Amino acid sequence: LDRVKVSPSVLAADFTQLHAELDRLSDADYIHFDVMDGHFVPNHSFGPHILMAVKRSTDALLDVHLMVTNPDEVIDWYVDAGADIVSVHLEAADDLPAIINRLHERGALAGVVINPPTPVQELEGVIDLVDIVLIMSVNPGFGGQSFIEGTYDKVRELRRMCERHGVDPLIEVDGGVTLSNARALGEAGATVLVAGSAVFKAEDPSMIVRELRELGTI
Ligand code: DX5
Ligand code: ZN
Repeated sequence: LDRVKVSPSVLAADFTQLHAELDRLSDADYIHFDVMDGHFVPNHSFGPHILMAVKRSTDALLDVHLMVTNPDEVIDWYVDAGADIVSVHLEAADDLPAIINRLHERGALAGVVINPPTPVQELEGVIDLVDIVLIMSVNPGFGGQSFIEGTYDKVRELRRMCERHGVDPLIEVDGGVTLSNARALGEAGATVLVAGSAVFKAEDPSMIVRELRELGTI
């Protein structure tokens, strides 16, 4: 029985207190870092300099989610800044196998992300290469949106694809994850839960991390 991992999204933190916010999350497995370029998504967030500050403020592994149109040009910046996992969108990458190779050469784990409208079947060509698949459960660009119910079926379909291929990547779900859907996500086959608002807007963020982990672990 593998414990589900919880990856709180820094996007929902109070940036005037970044260090204190991360200090309150000592039992998070990963810290999720949402990079937005204003092209791939209609918003800007933060970049490698802020990632370095996050790195100095936590012992958790850094889980970087790149919502950018040119991932091949920026992945090295994030590995240099301390990323442990770098996930790039299937919709944005011209040569995903080359990006995955580069990340592995640099000693990082490589992830692929699909948006809500992108079918799971499009992962067929890269499923043997990646360490992690991230299924978006909201349209990317903003925190605090509500969870898209169709995600459960996508997670189950991805599980079946992995079984057919004999591979076992981490399966991460991102967007609108709360205490009320964590159990169903774990049952569908998710192994990493990202949560922004549910964690950072809580009075006791650490308790929410533990509860998400317990609910998600089947
Ligand atoms: C959305 C981001 C998510 C977001 C999750 O573009 O990729 O990681 O921060 O935030 P919540 O949990 O508030 O939906
Ligand atoms: Zn994200």
